[in-house]
Amino acid sequence: MGVGAFKIRGNKKLSGILEVEGSKNGSLPIFVATLIEKGTYILRNIPNLMDIRTLIKLLESLGLEVEQLDKHSYKIVNNGIKNIEASYELVKKMRASFLVMGPILAHCGEAKVSLPGGCAIGARPVDLHLKGFEALGTEITIEHGYVYGKVKDGKLKGDKIILDFPSVGATENIIMAAVKAEGVTIIENVAREPEIDDLCHFLNKMGAKIEGIGEGKLTITGVDKLYPCEYEIIPDRIVAGTFIIAAVMFEGVKVKGVRTEHLESFLMKLQEMGVTYHIDENGLFEVTSKLEDLKGVKVKTMPHPGFPTDLQSPIMTLMCLAKGSSEITETIFENRFMHVPELNRMGAEITTEKNIAVIKGIDKFSSAQVMSSDLRAGAALVLAALKSEGESTVNRIYHIDRGYEDLEIKLRNIGADIERVKEEI
Ligand code: UD1
Repeated sequence: MGVGAFKIRGNKKLSGILEVEGSKNGSLPIFVATLIEKGTYILRNIPNLMDIRTLIKLLESLGLEVEQLDKHSYKIVNNGIKNIEASYELVKKMRASFLVMGPILAHCGEAKVSLPGGCAIGARPVDLHLKGFEALGTEITIEHGYVYGKVKDGKLKGDKIILDFPSVGATENIIMAAVKAEGVTIIENVAREPEIDDLCHFLNKMGAKIEGIGEGKLTITGVDKLYPCEYEIIPDRIVAGTFIIAAVMFEGVKVKGVRTEHLESFLMKLQEMGVTYHIDENGLFEVTSKLEDLKGVKVKTMPHPGFPTDLQSPIMTLMCLAKGSSEITETIFENRFMHVPELNRMGAEITTEKNIAVIKGIDKFSSAQVMSSDLRAGAALVLAALKSEGESTVNRIYHIDRGYEDLEIKLRNIGADIERVKEEI
């Protein structure tokens, strides 16, 4: 793993436009969905990120040909899946790799995919994915760290599935398995994240019959054939949210590429804190309130349309600078407060008990050496470092590289003093 770090000399005057890239979590399932049907696909607005490169390696290992047309566009040729096994070496690098299971089952009737294992923010099992595949007529066995699935009678069959929890990954995996299954699949209590809607729109553009998009219950009528297509991925709402926080913290920073309909609960919380903003006719997001006027609020992370867990750590940085105290209850991942001790090293006053963090407002951050534990935690630390007097080092930025395209270049372009250096270990 690369051991890079960001050196940030904070408290500079920032001004200019931060542009949001295409959605990482939207791109991954759509890339994976090209496994389902043979043919040639063009995908646009794909962010230039490590996770995308990891996924491309995996797709190539399964037999797809992937060609990068320009920084954000790819041509994918599916001449048939040549290998039904997704290896541990590739899956362990990124949990979303497990999403290949549904499409391989749909295409080949048989799949062998490494179990992803845990990660820093929690255990993250795949039981809901597997229950879904079983409901559609797959026999599942787990051996030597791999899940082996074999479709009984060679053809997936539609059924009713009620998810115990609206898991994003399980919803996506089951949808991809169901689009060519025989008969009708009804999935209830599905995740409703915008990236899932985007996957459904992509599949419907290919000729799938998915109804109820965005409503919590999907009805999928299986079709025999899909038709490859060209598709443009939605902007990344989590990057947008992170940049909006930067704009709240630094007068003069604007954000381009915000889809407010994807960020409603987040924007409502900002408004509750006292943030005011407007979006001009060119779609530029501009903050009109002052940082010193913000007050603390309570946030609880929830499945969409609730407050997104991926913006929990970035908003915590902002809460540190608000008046009074704030509270965050994390309900999605059991271990997602690893950024707290790091923010405290930077002068924050945050205490945690179980899944609740209490954040006491402070006047300013103080620069320090810190470490990112996951990609959103890394973004939270970069935000804090930008607002600290003196020089901070944010270590383990390979996490940040997984989810934010050219972050230091974008920040430098608006006046930040940030450079990528070798991590001192
Ligand atoms: C996706 C996002 C991630 C985001 C998360 C929650 C991608 C590539 N990643 O991850 O950025 O933080 O949604 O919004 O889109 N669970 C089970 N059993 C399962 C599946 C999940 O218990 O079979 C649990 C998980 O352990 C976790 C919770 O459900 O506690 C949410 O996970 P899920 O919605 O599946 O998240 P991901 O798809 O992994």
